[in-house]
Amino acid sequence: MINGLEAEMDQSLNIAMILGSIREQRFCDTVAAWAAAEVERYFQAAPEVIDPLHLNIPGLPGGSDHSAQSYRDKLQQADAFVVVVPEYNHSYPAALKVVVDSAKAEWRAKPVGFVSYGGISGGLRAVEHMRQVFVELHGVSVRDSVSFASAWEQFDENGKLRKPERAESAMSRMLAQLSWWGRHLKQARQMEPYEV
Ligand SMILES: Cc1cc2nc3c(=O)[nH]c(=O)nc-3n(C[C@H](O)[C@H](O)[C@H](O)COP(=O)(O)O)c2cc1C
Repeated sequence: MINGLEAEMDQSLNIAMILGSIREQRFCDTVAAWAAAEVERYFQAAPEVIDPLHLNIPGLPGGSDHSAQSYRDKLQQADAFVVVVPEYNHSYPAALKVVVDSAKAEWRAKPVGFVSYGGISGGLRAVEHMRQVFVELHGVSVRDSVSFASAWEQFDENGKLRKPERAESAMSRMLAQLSWWGRHLKQARQMEPYEV
């Protein structure tokens, strides 16, 4: 048996949730609030929310809360990522590209799951573009995602899903995959740094 494989796996995971929109009156807050509650329910711990509105990174409006370095530190501490992404013109918003491009090693050998929303497509085209980007960054995008078509019709005025069953079940599948990859890649990174 290879040294270390017998070691008990650390089951605890730090999840970071990245928001995809900086638009005024964005719908992102509604979807992200639901997704964060689901992550907390599944992992028994709230995700670290990374909001481009509050990041001091060139190319973003320049909120004062978090410097680029503290943003990268948060990514570094994360074992897995959930990206909440709307679809803009068949892709994802420019602000999200700035956020993703502002880090590099922090994404490597870690899983990424998507919660997408939009009009008729439910953000699926944005997710497919994001998958290509994360391959370049050595991220591992999990197969299942959660998608809200005409998202504003699916949530009521209190941010509650009118029919939660389907989304909850899709989220559970996605989070199970994120957890599997998150736990195994965490252990693998501890045994051998990913430097390939
Ligand atoms: C610039 C722009 C382009 C959009 N393009 C699409 C699109 O290609 N497909 C789609 O389904 N919805 C599209 N939408 C609808 C958005 O996905 C929807 O308004 C969503 O709520 C935007 O997220 P946000 O409010 O958090 O910024 C677009 C919206 C904007 C503002």
